[in-house]
Amino acid sequence: MPDEQEPGGATRIVEQFHRLYYESEAQTWKNTFFLGVRTAKCPLDLWIYQELLFDLRPDLVVECGTAWGGSALYLATICDLVDTGRIVTIDVADDPGRPQHPRITYVHGSSTSDEVVAMVHHEAASAGSVLVLLDSDHSCEHVAGELAAYASLVTPGSYLVVEDTNVNGHPVLPEFGPGPWEAVDGFLATHPEFVVDDEREKFFLTFNPRGFLRRR
Ligand SMILES: C[S@@+](CC[C@H](N)C(=O)[O-])C[C@H]1O[C@@H](n2cnc3c(N)ncnc32)[C@H](O)[C@@H]1O
Repeated sequence: MPDEQEPGGATRIVEQFHRLYYESEAQTWKNTFFLGVRTAKCPLDLWIYQELLFDLRPDLVVECGTAWGGSALYLATICDLVDTGRIVTIDVADDPGRPQHPRITYVHGSSTSDEVVAMVHHEAASAGSVLVLLDSDHSCEHVAGELAAYASLVTPGSYLVVEDTNVNGHPVLPEFGPGPWEAVDGFLATHPEFVVDDEREKFFLTFNPRGFLRRR
């Protein structure tokens, strides 16, 4: 076990725990539920989302990648508690068994298709503040396409969260290939209006390292 006092010791502890949490046989992140609905999130990241929703009170949350609907239900439940906001969540896979909630709109289609992008932009036109979460296909190419499609919707002071930047060896799944982390690199090089907010990584373990992008 690394000594936290050594140079780089804390980083090594966090990375070891990250790999244990993500890659060990138990694969805890695949066994996580919100009110009985599966979500592929680290609870520490969900807590950060709760803080973002409380701080920002966005009118609209756009989520790319619905899966079972657990993250959408979580976001909608926090919106209930802060008494504002709605969720538009997009997935290529349709699933009629997802949780129903008055604040959630499910969209069936690819997050980068012209149709879906136009529909989400139309929804955002009437929203004063918008938060965008990217959690669908984690290939670099697809994430870059989502960044191009949705970054402009993020209102100043709000966030564009690029999820699962941890893959491709940052620090898990080193064989993944270029993914969200690499897409963020390309995006930040040409979008100085966004900055990495590492304060949102304060719990040490996050699946989204360098992925909490705040619009100035
Ligand atoms: C990591 S899961 C989403 C997890 C969910 N947000 C949660 O936290 O529980 C990724 C989802 O993205 C969807 N997906 C894959 N490619 C997509 C695309 N091009 N457009 C929209 N969704 C896509 C998959 O069907 C899958 O359900």
